[in-house]
Amino acid sequence: MMQALVLVGGEGTRLRPLTKTIPKPAVTLVDRPFLSYMIEWLSGHGVDEVILACGFMPDRLREVLGDGEPNGPRLRYLTEPEPLGTAGAIKFAEQYLDQRFLALNGDVLTDLDLSALIRMHEAKSSKATLGLFPVDDPSAYGLVTTDEDGRILEFLEKPEHPELVDSDEINAGIYVLEHSVLDLIPADRTVSIERDIFPLLVGRGLHGMRLEGYWMDIGTPERYLQAGWDILEGRVSTQVNPRDGAVLIDATAEVDASAEIGPRAVVGPACHVSAGAVIRDSVLHAGCEVGRGAQVLGSI
Ligand code: GDD
Ligand code: MG
Repeated sequence: MMQALVLVGGEGTRLRPLTKTIPKPAVTLVDRPFLSYMIEWLSGHGVDEVILACGFMPDRLREVLGDGEPNGPRLRYLTEPEPLGTAGAIKFAEQYLDQRFLALNGDVLTDLDLSALIRMHEAKSSKATLGLFPVDDPSAYGLVTTDEDGRILEFLEKPEHPELVDSDEINAGIYVLEHSVLDLIPADRTVSIERDIFPLLVGRGLHGMRLEGYWMDIGTPERYLQAGWDILEGRVSTQVNPRDGAVLIDATAEVDASAEIGPRAVVGPACHVSAGAVIRDSVLHAGCEVGRGAQVLGSI
């Protein structure tokens, strides 16, 4: 049995205006709140308790997710008085955390092998073990260099000159942590795990493991849309069944027979799409009205 702390306190600025009224983890992705995918994935790797480290609009999140599914992990909500940063948020949860726990960025859609990461952590008697994933352009992420034993040699958060670093592996925002890491985090102030804590742990029990599978940070509109198509086209394993043409129309949506839907479209609950409208490469959240002949292309 395992405990996971999920960081969901960011403001989701890059997804505005979507995230002006809904916190990023509660935004619908295909047909369910985004965070449901993460909870389901955690549950599949033996997690039975999820602590949601909230900052921003915690009530909206609780409204959407409640205490969790009957057979899924129990959900617990913690809200910082003000955003304390990625390490500050973990420190804030200190009294609830077990000897060993998982910590995760809450804006990642993934099916990576979390169990393998936990095994590596145990095998190395590590203090902190980070899931790593290769990307083409690492500049927007935490860039990590490891040796052949998985020891992290360098951790650089959003380096100005990523080309100077000989690695394409980034921090996937998936950590196995020992409780002792909390001793390095000062309380009651803003601390970043990426900028302040991981660099401090280099050479002191910090490991990384490259994981195979699907991984996507959904923090921008482009990546949010791509994540939806990846689910509907079956590139990531989730409980949503892939669909022909990656088209999903909710049963409660009203779509005129002459409207053209897809390829790649989600039409959410209670949407209304009028005659001759075109919806392509786009996601309509609940209650959208699309007028006669309107074209919705590449939009949320
Ligand atoms: N509770 C709480 N409090 N959560 C926070 C806070 C805070 O003050 N600040 C950020 N978070 C949460 C966000 O909601 C998000 O789920 C996660 O922490 C990461 O924050 P982002 O703002 O999305 O960071 P990023 O995407 O730019 O970079 C991070 O993720 C990359 C992978 O997607 C870093 O961890 C990088 O190193 C990493 O490569
Ligand atoms: Mg992010």
